Amino acid sequence: MEQTPVTDPNTIATDGFRLHPDDEAAMREEIGHFEQPQAACIEALKIVQRRHGWVPDDAITAIARVLGVGPASVEGVATFYSLIFRQPVGRHIILVCDSSSCFLTGFDQLRDALGEHLGIGLGETTADGRFTLLPVCCLGACDGGPALMIDDDVYGPVAAGDLPDLLEGYS
Ligand code: FES
Repeated sequence: MEQTPVTDPNTIATDGFRLHPDDEAAMREEIGHFEQPQAACIEALKIVQRRHGWVPDDAITAIARVLGVGPASVEGVATFYSLIFRQPVGRHIILVCDSSSCFLTGFDQLRDALGEHLGIGLGETTADGRFTLLPVCCLGACDGGPALMIDDDVYGPVAAGDLPDLLEGYS
């Protein structure tokens, strides 16, 4: 008797990455909003990142199959957007703004205080996998610089002394 595949094999990439059916459905819905499937690429990448925390190589292949484009095309979009993570990151992402207003109001001190408190520099992840610290362009909180964002929460102005209490809220 012929076996019925439990999932669409076109959505399964190599080395075991499996696109969650809900994620594939969300991608197909996004594709429906555009004339060209490629236009849904950034949303597709975000969908994978929301579930996995980052976008592994095999997810690039899986997304490409859903969009009907080449993996290089998806890779190009993933590389262009700095907030699409192509390697594992911490459970919480700290984005510290290094744009002009925050630069003038204490970015250097805030970056150094974060580094001292967390024991990592920009672009690094704490050994316990709790935080990844990244620079970012303007967060839109310029009147409250220096500003930072933890996951979806924007804070500013943030002083070095605020950090212990602030970070405590993110386990
Ligand atoms: S310059 Fe930092 S939030 Fe705008």
